[in-house]
Amino acid sequence: RAPERLITVEDYRRAARRRLPSMVWTYVDGGADDRHTLGLNRSAFDGWWLRPSVLTGHDVHRLGTTAAGLELSMPVMLAPTGFTGLTRWSGDLDAVRAAERAGTRYALSTTSSWSLEEVAGAASREHVFQLYPGTGGVAADLMRRAWSAGYRTLFVTVDVPVKGNREGERKLGMGIPPALTPRRALNFARHPRWTYDMLRHQRVAGANVGTGGGVREAVESVEIAERELMQSRLDWDDLAWMREQWRGRLYLKGVLRADDATRAVDLGCDGVVVSNHGGRQLDHVPPTIAVLPGIADAVGHRAEVILDGGVRRGTDVVTALALGARAVLVGRPYVYGLAVGGERGVVDVLGILRDEIERALTLLGVRDVADLDRSHVRRADPPHH
Ligand code: FNR
Repeated sequence: RAPERLITVEDYRRAARRRLPSMVWTYVDGGADDRHTLGLNRSAFDGWWLRPSVLTGHDVHRLGTTAAGLELSMPVMLAPTGFTGLTRWSGDLDAVRAAERAGTRYALSTTSSWSLEEVAGAASREHVFQLYPGTGGVAADLMRRAWSAGYRTLFVTVDVPVKGNREGERKLGMGIPPALTPRRALNFARHPRWTYDMLRHQRVAGANVGTGGGVREAVESVEIAERELMQSRLDWDDLAWMREQWRGRLYLKGVLRADDATRAVDLGCDGVVVSNHGGRQLDHVPPTIAVLPGIADAVGHRAEVILDGGVRRGTDVVTALALGARAVLVGRPYVYGLAVGGERGVVDVLGILRDEIERALTLLGVRDVADLDRSHVRRADPPHH
């Protein structure tokens, strides 16, 4: 266990920051351009107030639900994040095991550090695979491999037609391989445990696309992924092709507009993930909690709506569910857990969120997460100056 007393996700954030070289920290915690959307994802939760009912007599609270076709012990899943091996060499394996210990599921990134087969091998339940859209052999091959490894739900991430402009990473020379200067090398040397693990295990990327996890393979893998999968020429016909190819459930991840959500569902998607990629892609898009109600109104009656972005507290989860989300994903919170304590750290972060959700339900007077609806929230009054 970590020496500090870590009782909130924010505590984990601070502890993770101390443990990671600044280049890696900036990759994990940074955002696009001026990081305006990154900040809004958090602060927009303050724009909603909760409305508790008293003396409701509920002494047992149910947090379990199903989302993405999977049974969950609580309405929180782990979002796909690439290059987890940069944070902790055993990243994806730790994350999937921690998800299972907490009774929830992991969404494995295309640009993971461990292959989709290795992750399925470390797991005993079904998890989600995240794919970028593509119609070439690389996408077809990944879909075939994901199916035969037992994945039945795909999150197709559509908000990366080009990589976002994360200036913090550019300034610090983050890349594969990293651009080293004496000062940056010193920063790595100040994190000897991290540096030792990285050099010893070399788990960067290239597990799913490309041939391995070493630095050279990772460079090649990123090139293939950007050339084949992260492409601005892709359109709805390409998504229709993927929908035909994939027999399982398919969710479109990175939707911020009701018309796009409607189009996705018309095309046969089982649901959408309302996401702005954690503020890492286009800056100045709205925070996800602000667009959730409109998207839930448009498609919520015939498809599942999941939300991610800025969820750090049990009350955030409750607010998102009240506004129409079936479940939420958390990205950075579990990466902080990985940095601090690997599998145990992620289990602990999920435990913190679980306790907070349960307490919030109790205080709100709601018995079951399925009972949350708009009667439990109202828009906050504008602040007084
Ligand atoms: C991401 N995200 C992401 N999404 C995706 O579909 N494929 C990916 O490979 C990645 N990679 C990735 C790396 C890192 C370090 C972060 C922080 C995020 C986006 C992720 O799935 C999710 O949308 C956001 O992380 C949600 O916001 P929070 O919970 O981090 O605020």
